[in-house]
Amino acid sequence: MSDRSDAPTSVIRLADYRPPAWAVEDVVLEFDLGIDHTEVTSRLTLVRQADEPIRLNGEGIELLELTLDGRPLGDGEYILANGVLEVAVDADRCTLGARVAVRPAENTAFEGLYLSGSRDRGFLLTQCEAEGFRHITYFPDRPDVLSKYTVTLRADRQRFPVLLAGGNPDGTGDLADGRHWARFVDPHPKPSYLFALVAGRLERISHDYTTADGRAVALHIWAEADVIDRCDYAMDSLIRSMQWDERTYGRNYDLDVFHVVATHDFNMGAMENKGLNIFNAKYLLADPDSSTDDEYRHVEAVVAHEYFHNWSGNRVTCRDWFQLSLKEGLTVFREQSFSADMNSVSLKRIEDVALLRRAQFPEDAGPLSHPVRPSQYSEINNFYTATVYEKGSELVRMLAGHLGRDGFRKGMDLYFDRHDGDAATIEDFLKSLGDANGTDLSAYLAWYGQAGTPRLTAEARYDATQSRYRLTLRQRTPASAGQTVKHALPIPVRLSLFDASGKALPLRLEGEATAGATERTIVLDGAERSIVFEDIASAPVPSLLRGFSAPVILEFDYAPEELGVLLRHDPDGFNRWEAGQQLAGLAYDDCRDGKVDGAAIGAWTRALAQLFGDPSVEDALLAELLTPPGEIELVERQPERDPDRIRASRQAMLRALASRIGVPALRARYEALRAATSAALDATSQAQRQLKRRVLDLLSLVDEAHARELARAQYDEAPGMTDRLAALATLATVDPDAATPAFAHFRHRYEGNALALDKWFAVQAQLPGETALGRIQSLERDDAFTLKNPNRVQSLLGSFARANPSGFHRADGAAYRWLADRLVAIDALNPQVAARVATAFNGWKRLEPVRRESAHAVVAELASRKDLSRDLTDILARVAL
Ligand code: ARG
Ligand code: ZN
Repeated sequence: MSDRSDAPTSVIRLADYRPPAWAVEDVVLEFDLGIDHTEVTSRLTLVRQADEPIRLNGEGIELLELTLDGRPLGDGEYILANGVLEVAVDADRCTLGARVAVRPAENTAFEGLYLSGSRDRGFLLTQCEAEGFRHITYFPDRPDVLSKYTVTLRADRQRFPVLLAGGNPDGTGDLADGRHWARFVDPHPKPSYLFALVAGRLERISHDYTTADGRAVALHIWAEADVIDRCDYAMDSLIRSMQWDERTYGRNYDLDVFHVVATHDFNMGAMENKGLNIFNAKYLLADPDSSTDDEYRHVEAVVAHEYFHNWSGNRVTCRDWFQLSLKEGLTVFREQSFSADMNSVSLKRIEDVALLRRAQFPEDAGPLSHPVRPSQYSEINNFYTATVYEKGSELVRMLAGHLGRDGFRKGMDLYFDRHDGDAATIEDFLKSLGDANGTDLSAYLAWYGQAGTPRLTAEARYDATQSRYRLTLRQRTPASAGQTVKHALPIPVRLSLFDASGKALPLRLEGEATAGATERTIVLDGAERSIVFEDIASAPVPSLLRGFSAPVILEFDYAPEELGVLLRHDPDGFNRWEAGQQLAGLAYDDCRDGKVDGAAIGAWTRALAQLFGDPSVEDALLAELLTPPGEIELVERQPERDPDRIRASRQAMLRALASRIGVPALRARYEALRAATSAALDATSQAQRQLKRRVLDLLSLVDEAHARELARAQYDEAPGMTDRLAALATLATVDPDAATPAFAHFRHRYEGNALALDKWFAVQAQLPGETALGRIQSLERDDAFTLKNPNRVQSLLGSFARANPSGFHRADGAAYRWLADRLVAIDALNPQVAARVATAFNGWKRLEPVRRESAHAVVAELASRKDLSRDLTDILARVAL
C-alpha cells in the first residue's frame, strides 16, 4: 500500500519465482511500545542460500541503527532504496541488527502496527498478511522465509496492562518508571506474515482445553470491557472447532496458549496469526440483542476458519502469494465442512453456492477475472478475492469428491505430514492427495490456472424403442482478461435420473452388466462426452450436477414441468433448491417488460404454492425455496442489463408467487410463526424466523397495509436482532415514511454499539431506487459515520455500491460520481478498503448503454489520476481496460 502510483508499479510474476537468497534462522524482536512512537529492535540470524547480498523489505519505517555481527554499519555500508535494504556480506552466516521507529497512531491503513480505537482508550495491534511486517521492521517479508521468533514487549503498565504476542509465554516482569515487559517464544518456525502483537487495556474470558493428544491449552478471548460479555459464542465455537479438527483430520493444536482478540478496526474478516488470532469484532462478538442468526453462523464459521489455518496455512504455509488459495481455498473448504456438520449439510451447500453465484461468478465474468492461482499481480492485497477463497474451496471440494471421504483423509494426512514446516505449492498439494491414493490428480491443476466460469451444456436424446437415454456433455469457458484460449477441464458431473412420478432410476451405462446405484458421477474431461443409459422405460428427468459437483454454469433445456418434478421430488435438499432456482430463472424470463405470463411462471408459482402447504417441507428449506435468485444474479439473464427493470421484473414474479399462495395462507402462516417467536438460537427457531421474514415480504407485495402493521408490531415485539432487523427492512421497503420513527428508535437504542449501528447503516443503504443516493448522503452526515472505520465504510458505501443495484446504478450516473469522490478520500486513509469498494465498478461494461457511458467516464477519470495508492490504481487500471 501507500506508495502512491507515481512510483513505478512493478508486476510480480509467478514464473519469476526464485528461492530466498538468505534464510532467517531466528528472529529476536524487542518492542518499546507507544501510541505515537514505537521503537523496534530486531536481531536476525541469517544463513546464506545463494551468492547474493542480503535484501530486506521495509516501508514507512525510520531506520535508526543497523549492525552486522554487533558492529554498527555506516551510510556507505548498505543501500536503502525503493523499500529494500541491501547489505553485501562475505560470510555465509551473520547476525543483522536493526533499530527502527514506527508511528502507530498515524497508521490509518491498518497494515503493520496500528492503533484500534481512541488515543486515550484504544489498544495497539498488528496486521501483517500479506506484506505488513515490512511496516514494522526490515525483513525478507515473503512467506517462504520461516523463522523462530522470540518477542519481548515493553510498555507502560497503566496504559498497556495486557501484552500479547504469538507463541508460548516466556516470562514477564517490572521495569523502572511504571513500565513492564512480557516475552513470548514461538517454537514453530513461521513466516513474517503470521507475526502478531497486541497491547492495551483488554478483558478476557478463558477456558482450559485438553487436546486429543493430551496437551493442556489455555484458551483466551480478549476484547474491550464494553463487549467482553459478547464473546461466549466465539469461545464455544472455538472449542467445537478444535474438537472437529481432531476428529475429522486428526489435527491437534500445538502451543500451550491460544489467544483470540477482537477489534473494531480491521480491514478484513480475521487473521490467523500463530497463537494470536485477531478478529474483526463483526466476526467474533455475538449476542441475541444485537446479532442476527446469520451473524451467529458467521462467527462460528470464521472462528473455525482461523483456527483451521493453524494447520492449513501455518504448519504448512504458502511458498509465495500466488499459492494463496493453497491455504485459503483449503481452509474455506474445511470451514464449510465444519459448518455443514454443525448445522445442516444441504442448507450449508445452498448458502455456499448462492454466495459463489452472487460474488464469484460476477467477479469471474468481468475485467477483474483471474485464476484461482493468478500468474501475476501488482498488489497482492487485491487478490483476497471470492475467486481465491470461494472458487478455491470448490476446487478442493471436487478433489475431495473424486477421492471419496477416506481417500481424501489419507491424502490430507500425507499432505500435512509431508509438508509440515514447509512453504508449499498447489502442485505439492495435488501430489500428496494423489500419492496417498495411488492416483494422478495433475489434470486438476488446469482449474487453478484458468479464469472464467466454464459453461457446461447437456443435451439429451431419449430413444423409446431401445429404452436408451443418451446424454451429451460439452464444455466451453469464455475468454477472460489476458486469457483468450481456454482448455477443457475435468468436470465431475454427479447425476441421477427420475421418472415422471419422481422416482430415481437405477443406472446402467452402456456396456455394464447390471444396474447399480441411482446416482453416478461422470467426469467430463474433454470438450465433449456422450453417455448412454440402458433400460430407461420412459423419458427421464435428469438431475445434473448434484450437490453442485463442479463450479460451472449448467445449461440444459429443461421444460418447466421437468423442473417441477425435481422441485417436488428430489430427495436431496440442495438439488431440490437448485431445481427451484432454475425454474425461477425461467419464471423470471416470463415476467420481463411488465407482462407476467408463460408456462414457467405458472409452473414455479404452482409448485411453490403446493410446497408452501406441504407440512413435510421444513421451514428452513421452504424459506430458501421462496427466495429466487437475487437481482445481481439475474443480471445474467437480462440482455439489457438495466438494474431498474431487473428489479421490477423480479418484484413482479414475487408478486405472482404471493398471489398464487394467497393472502389467507400467507397471513395464517405468519401468525403461526409469530406465535412461535422466541429468542432461542436452536435450528428450529432460526428456521422459523427466516421463514417468517420471507412470508412477511411476500405478504407485503399483495397485502401492503396489513403487512405494514405486522412489520411495525414485529419491530416492537422482537425478542432479538433477527426479527427486529427483518421488520425494519420490510417496513422501510413497504413504506419508507412509516419506517422513519423505527429507524430513529433503533439509532437511539444502539447508540454506542458499533456492530448494531453498522446494520442500521447497511439496511438503509440497501433500500432500492432513485431515492437511495439522497438517503446515503444524509446518512454520511450522521455523527456515527466515519470514513476511517472499514466496517462503517462497508456498511454504508459497500452495501450501497454492491448490494443495491437499482440505487447505485442510477441512470443519471450521479451515484458513480459520488462514489468516485469518496474513493479518493478513503484511499488517502486506507488503500485496501478503497480498492475493495472500487471493485463495485467491475460490471460496468455489461450495463445498458446510458449507464455504461456514465460509469465509463467516471472509471476512466479515476484511473487517469496519478495520486492514488497502488491498491486502488491496480483495481482501476484493470476495471478500465
Ligand atoms: N488470512 C486471512 C484469512 O483468514 C485474511 C487476511 C487478509 N489480509 C489482507 N490484508 N489482505 O482469510
Ligand atoms: Zn483464511
